[in-house]
Amino acid sequence: MREFVDLGAWRAARQALSGTVGFVPTMGALHRGHAALIERCRAECDHVVLSIYVNPTQFNNPQDLEHYPRTLATDLALARELGVDCVVMPDYAQLYPDGFRYRVEETDFSTILCGAHRPGHFTGVLTVVMKLLNLVQPTRAYFGEKDYQQFLLIRDMCAAFFLDVTIVPCPTVREPDGLALSSRNTLLDAASRARAPEFARALRAPDADAAVVQRLEDAGFDVDYVETRFGRRFGAVVMHGPARDVRLIDNVPAAAEGVPAP
Ligand code: PAF
Repeated sequence: MREFVDLGAWRAARQALSGTVGFVPTMGALHRGHAALIERCRAECDHVVLSIYVNPTQFNNPQDLEHYPRTLATDLALARELGVDCVVMPDYAQLYPDGFRYRVEETDFSTILCGAHRPGHFTGVLTVVMKLLNLVQPTRAYFGEKDYQQFLLIRDMCAAFFLDVTIVPCPTVREPDGLALSSRNTLLDAASRARAPEFARALRAPDADAAVVQRLEDAGFDVDYVETRFGRRFGAVVMHGPARDVRLIDNVPAAAEGVPAP
């Protein structure tokens, strides 16, 4: 596995690759959800490129950025084990030579759900993903459905800007108790971790969104939103712990789960 911290070296290496290139962009703190993306990419592409970059422009909360888990040594070991060919790990100066003066902004779907609660979040996501796609020039790029709104925005951005890449959505990977895998799960204290699976259970309940909000609030969650749109029920909650607050998001296919239409 080749590791690139220098984007000049990476771009030269990229020009030498022939065949299909699969790309899995991440912010590190890799878990089984990322492993599933990498495995699918490995099965479908000649070359597997992973990026690890904690992108500051998508964090609307400085404490969230500060506490975001960073586990580079174990990430690299897992990447090697899973057959990743190249890992790209740029820094801010290389990725944002413009100082974030240039941005990709979506003006509709990015303003609802998570966008309504995290100002600027999706502009940061779309901007960094556009940069990474231009640097990696993948044939296929893999994104988890846990971040379903992110997946839709990226897919439609690629269509809007005529990017020659297939965006591949991959099913959410869950713990045996139903909690969707997330790098942020490691930040949950023991009591919050024990209560967290109720979030996924409540989203699947055959009740109206308002009743699900009530159920979650009764269980002690601070609810950002529960909304059923486009055949899926989306939710975001904050769990308050003694050391820090942890925000969890999830979504389930509404029709398949018996969730009523809005
Ligand atoms: O989903 C993530 O981990 C990030 O939002 C992404 C797509 C790597 C952009 O920083």
